[in-house]
Amino acid sequence: MSKPTFYITTPIYYPSGKAHIGHGYTTVACDAVSRYKRMCGYDVLFLTGTDEHGQKIELKAAEAGVTPKQYVDEVVAGFKDLWQLLNISYDRFIRTTDDYHEQSVQRIFEELYNKGEIYLGKYEGLYCTPCEAFWTESQLVDGKCPDCGREVKPASEEAYFFRLSKYADKLLALYEDNPEFIQPESRKNEMISFIKSGLNDLCVSRTSFKWGIPVTFDPKHVVYVWLDALTNYITALGFKNDKYDDYDKYWPADVHFIGKEIVRFHTIIWPAILMALDLPLPKRVYGHGWLLIGDSKMSKSKGNVVDPVILCDRYGVDAIRYFLLREIPFGSDGNFTNEALISRINSDLANDLGNLVSRTTAMSQKYFGDNLPDIREAEPIDDELINLAVSVKKTVEENLDNFQFSNALAEIWKLISRSNKYIDETMPWVLAKDESKKARLATVIYNLAECLRIAAVLITPFMPVTSPKIFEQLGVGDESLKTWESAGTFGLLPTNAALKKGETIFPRIDLAKELEYLEEEKNKAAAPEAKKDPLEGIAQIGIDDFAKVELRVAKVTACEPIPKAKKLLKLTLDDGYGTRTVASGIAKWYKPEDLIGHSVIVVANLKPAVLCGVESQGMILAADCGEDVKVVFVDGMTPGSKVR
Ligand code: ME8
Ligand code: MG
Repeated sequence: MSKPTFYITTPIYYPSGKAHIGHGYTTVACDAVSRYKRMCGYDVLFLTGTDEHGQKIELKAAEAGVTPKQYVDEVVAGFKDLWQLLNISYDRFIRTTDDYHEQSVQRIFEELYNKGEIYLGKYEGLYCTPCEAFWTESQLVDGKCPDCGREVKPASEEAYFFRLSKYADKLLALYEDNPEFIQPESRKNEMISFIKSGLNDLCVSRTSFKWGIPVTFDPKHVVYVWLDALTNYITALGFKNDKYDDYDKYWPADVHFIGKEIVRFHTIIWPAILMALDLPLPKRVYGHGWLLIGDSKMSKSKGNVVDPVILCDRYGVDAIRYFLLREIPFGSDGNFTNEALISRINSDLANDLGNLVSRTTAMSQKYFGDNLPDIREAEPIDDELINLAVSVKKTVEENLDNFQFSNALAEIWKLISRSNKYIDETMPWVLAKDESKKARLATVIYNLAECLRIAAVLITPFMPVTSPKIFEQLGVGDESLKTWESAGTFGLLPTNAALKKGETIFPRIDLAKELEYLEEEKNKAAAPEAKKDPLEGIAQIGIDDFAKVELRVAKVTACEPIPKAKKLLKLTLDDGYGTRTVASGIAKWYKPEDLIGHSVIVVANLKPAVLCGVESQGMILAADCGEDVKVVFVDGMTPGSKVR
């Protein structure tokens, strides 16, 4: 029998700036679900990617002096690096500049046009360039873009339109008949009122910029970014292209994970496009909340992003994954603070989980050496712990099936806390003093180890680096004791388990010191880099040596470019004693007319040298910071004056 499938997607991110922890948030959440579903036996397709067309990218590339493709190639490489760092197990990465996607989008556009779902019209509206969105007057907030709060400007152009307005009733019926479609529930009413306030047809092409997929039958138009972007979810499966053959297998998607600001695009425009194409709709769209720094959304356009590389480097990737999914209920907004992160690491990871691992393994080794003995003695107090251990899997599943990551983790941590309490209750160190309590002591350690095994299985989707470390210390080599299924059974660990204390899995962090350190790092990053003084390591010279240099004032009487050398100017100087020629590398900063008539300082006793066919008899003094150069002028001084 073939496995059931599970198709999950992230938004395709704009590679208009570096990937940040906000993108990481959605992607880590998708990764946790994907790993969970794979462990449950699903054939998972986890798709992520990048949304590379549009005016904003075109502008960014122009600013950077590169082509749009060169620009996105570099940023996309950075996204992929971040996914590797965060241990993201995506199965497929789509770029909207991939040939197969472009081809599919062209065919989809043609089909919609041929069906009369797309028509040629004229667009007039208020356009927000950073968001690439047209708004109506009534949608503006304080006259500004409702998404980013920036200026919008009136714009008009010939454009193709998708008949979105005709889908209003069908969309309302969709929400009514499929209460699960928009999640969390709270976002649904917003969409209903948006539709009821009147849907306009959607502009799906642009003529005002070039960086997009051309409309085949009218190539001065490029496909406007949302039709290009949303269709990635099916083109990545091979819809209308030969690259893949997975459409029938995986579509409709089980869930699209997105941030709340693009719920409208995914629950109104996307289902309408699919309806127009007579295709099935995704089962669920989950719009999670925003990670905030201070009180504002972390975003590349505002430049307040947290660098995930630094965080992972310092605390380990699993600590960051844990924090993101535990701290903020999926759906709500939440603050990202260093203090909250470190507190979570200390309390949940170092204290609760880390201590349980080190106490359990240390006691096992101390009291029993390499292996637990085969003797057992149960007591009624064990039952509560064991009952909890076998029931956690189910509560975790219920929460994960509804994408309640924080609750799922809280459930696992109930078992971890209960286990720590069990140590305090059973007091193994007291049992150890009494030779007749050996069997009881072995039972206590075994129960703790088995609870840890179950916890390690259940945290695997969240913390894929940490769970193998725990298995290792518990001496679990057998893969069948690491499967999701195995978390539902107590007592699978061999009776003579070989526990071995290893490295501390999450070292405790000194909060005050660490906050101070992070503050310093932040200030360092904000301050201009201290320059190394090149004087260090250079020999000093005496006054006699300096006196050997003959510096004198000279007047520029003529000046011209040197045709063979773009950087050089040829200056003719009157140095008070005669005429000399100097070639100087200042053509980037000065035109001949900027120099003629001015007085400069020349090194008069420099050995002549031939530069690009010109004999240069000396050098003129100029200040040079690399980017800028300024010639030292001493206008008014008589040519031939000595400079000392
Ligand atoms: O919107 N908190 O791309 P985008 C939480 N290309 N999530 C955040 C976040 C934050 N501070 N910042 C970003 C686009 N995200 C379109 C999508 S899909 C067919 C096209 C995450 O680069 C969150 O998932 O602006 C959000 O929806 C997405 O990044 C926006 O990424
Ligand atoms: Mg955005």
